[in-house]
Amino acid sequence: MDDKKVIFSGIQPSSQALTLGNYIGAVNNWLKFQDEYNCIYSVVDLHSITVRQNPSELRARSLSFLAQYIACGLDPNKNIMFYQSHVPQHAELAWVLNCITYVGELSRMTQFKDKSRKHADNINMGLMDYPVLMAADILLYKTSLVPIGTDQKQHVEMARNIAMRFNNVYGDTFIVPEPFMAKSGAKIYSLQAPTQKMSKSDENENAVVYITDEPDAIMRKFKRAVTDSDNRIVYDEVNKPGISNLINIYAVMTGKTVRETEIEFEGKGYGEFKIKTGEAVVERLADFREKYKRITSDKTYVEQVAKEGADKARCLASKTLDKVYRKVGFVQMSK
Ligand code: TYM
Repeated sequence: MDDKKVIFSGIQPSSQALTLGNYIGAVNNWLKFQDEYNCIYSVVDLHSITVRQNPSELRARSLSFLAQYIACGLDPNKNIMFYQSHVPQHAELAWVLNCITYVGELSRMTQFKDKSRKHADNINMGLMDYPVLMAADILLYKTSLVPIGTDQKQHVEMARNIAMRFNNVYGDTFIVPEPFMAKSGAKIYSLQAPTQKMSKSDENENAVVYITDEPDAIMRKFKRAVTDSDNRIVYDEVNKPGISNLINIYAVMTGKTVRETEIEFEGKGYGEFKIKTGEAVVERLADFREKYKRITSDKTYVEQVAKEGADKARCLASKTLDKVYRKVGFVQMSK
């Protein structure tokens, strides 16, 4: 690799498709980085089995997710894209990092507590250990920047702490990564309960937009979006969470600012604004829909991208892992 800085990020293939939250909070920013940075994006399948998955669905979703990454506009010639399970160094580094991470700090992670409540019958070690695997993902590639939505910020902070702790104990090894969150859209809320994150696990199908949704489904979901009672299109997260969420979505999808959006819709009603927001999403995803239809039917191409991505990722990751193994005192054979 050249001397560009490295970006790493990933999405779990644990839903039928990427949500609009994934798109706006993560992928939309990934697209902006592909020329300036060396970008590495994984479909983090190892993470997804911390919650029980149907194996054949997981396989199909994983294939579809990589096709979605490409169809969103991530160029396989510019970005390394791969399945986390194809690069064994992730799990190997996670083990070493486990040995400098405390049970107490993991048990305090917000997402662990939330997911433990949601999946009370399956509070497995993987669920608790998940931030350590995420730290391994990031630290393996000398990552400087991790573009994420706000819900992952605590995990990136954990990765920073783990990196600094390791460096203190064993000497300078890891780059300490920074999180990157966009000003607008780092947290997209449910269209039905706009104080809750738009989440793939939401059972209300009108609450979540998937980027693979057909235009009429997208329009239907936006028309039914929950808003408050006064009819002014003004950004106010506390008192008008529903409309503020739509303003964020509209702004990101059209490339306008929140203020420009407020001005554009001054004096207009919610009904019209909901339709315009739906249309902005449909229009912004038009290229994606066309490309996705093409790519998804070409399994060989997607597999080829995954294979080349994993080959490159393995090569980079093994260098870091060798260094870590040396630092912690494992025997290394003379070549
Ligand atoms: P995951 O799969 O839950 O989400 C993937 C990305 O989408 C962002 N996101 C959102 N952003 C804004 N609004 C929303 N409603 C919304 N929902 C999701 C997430 O913040 C995330 O950036 N642990 C990670 C995956 C991961 C990872 C990594 C990320 C594994 N290893 C290393 C970065 C670096 C996760 O479960 O994200």
